[in-house]
Amino acid sequence: MIATLTLNPAVDKTIRVPRLAIGAIQRPRESHLDPGGKGINVSRMADRLGWPTIAFGILAGQVGEIIAQTLDREGVQSYFVQVPGQTRLNVTLFDESTGRGTGFYDPGPPVGASSLRRLEKDVAPWLKVCPVVALAGSLPPDAEPTTYARYIRRARAAGARTILDTSGEPLRLGVESRPYLIKPNVAELEGLLERRLPDLAAIVEGAREIAATGVEIVVVSMGARGAVCVEGESVWLAIPPRVERRTTIGSGDSMVAGLAVAMARGESVVEGLRLGTAAGAATAMVPGTELGSAATVLRLLPEVRIERLEQVQPPSTDRSVSRASRDADRQRAGRADG
Ligand SMILES: Nc1ncnc2c1ncn2[C@@H]1O[C@H](COP(=O)(O)OP(=O)(O)OP(=O)(O)O)[C@@H](O)[C@H]1O
Ligand SMILES: [Mg+2]
Repeated sequence: MIATLTLNPAVDKTIRVPRLAIGAIQRPRESHLDPGGKGINVSRMADRLGWPTIAFGILAGQVGEIIAQTLDREGVQSYFVQVPGQTRLNVTLFDESTGRGTGFYDPGPPVGASSLRRLEKDVAPWLKVCPVVALAGSLPPDAEPTTYARYIRRARAAGARTILDTSGEPLRLGVESRPYLIKPNVAELEGLLERRLPDLAAIVEGAREIAATGVEIVVVSMGARGAVCVEGESVWLAIPPRVERRTTIGSGDSMVAGLAVAMARGESVVEGLRLGTAAGAATAMVPGTELGSAATVLRLLPEVRIERLEQVQPPSTDRSVSRASRDADRQRAGRADG
């Protein structure tokens, strides 16, 4: 069983307009409402990949109900602590004329110390039966930034391996507790290292630096350019197939699900990278923040390429990943972590 934790979930509304005109009525070409929250996405994708999972988290109000109902409909087990107020509704506006997205992300409702304590207590017995625990997304505004760090230590004590997918201070403090695997994108790794990572060599170097602090596996996702993975002395580059991209929100969560499923099956990180890369690409192909289907993941799986990086190219000769880093920059404008 894979356990996921989403302390600050969201319902995502994605609107596509042909051309954004500020101050005018907009006629969206497409509008989607999807249950979001990074851990919830990880559970939904793990379930599609055929592995049992349980999504833990905190929900509030009718917006929270949308998430609970979707998980029930999809047959994904969940356990939520309910708090007053409303789960946040995150809006992303895509302007088709520029190809740019702008996100309006609420901080989410304050959840109260007693709800956080209760959830932590209720999750505790599951850490003994779930070999993999994914902690994902931002924290509620009133949660201590050490919250993930505490879960990581508790999970390790119970014999579970953790995947941490977050950003900013919770990521920095989480890494100090040595999660088993982290999956930042380039912007998140740049935030963690407090420096720019302009090319593949710099990304590999940055991932190595974090791995040296005691994180077993560091996977840095680079959007359409794939992902770099460092495990000890080994470095791999995962290259996704070329797909027709709709919106890539949720691709990172899908990748985490692939990594988690392979870990739960006892497979190598290379198998996890392969499955995660196919799942990330499948999600990039569907609109809104909807996730890719199992059938698409299976179809893409044989097209994923995994290369061992023996020698990292000097920065000046590597154009492809400079582009990945620029993509990340563009995304940073409109996307914070869930
Ligand atoms: N356009 C794309 N084409 C093919 N594969 C993609 C594309 N975008 C993403 N992927 C796959 O999904 C993985 C994760 O995507 P990305 O780097 O965008 O994650 P992220 O920034 O964490 O996203 P999010 O947090 O919104 O889920 C990539 O490493 C890649 O393998
Ligand atoms: Mg992400």
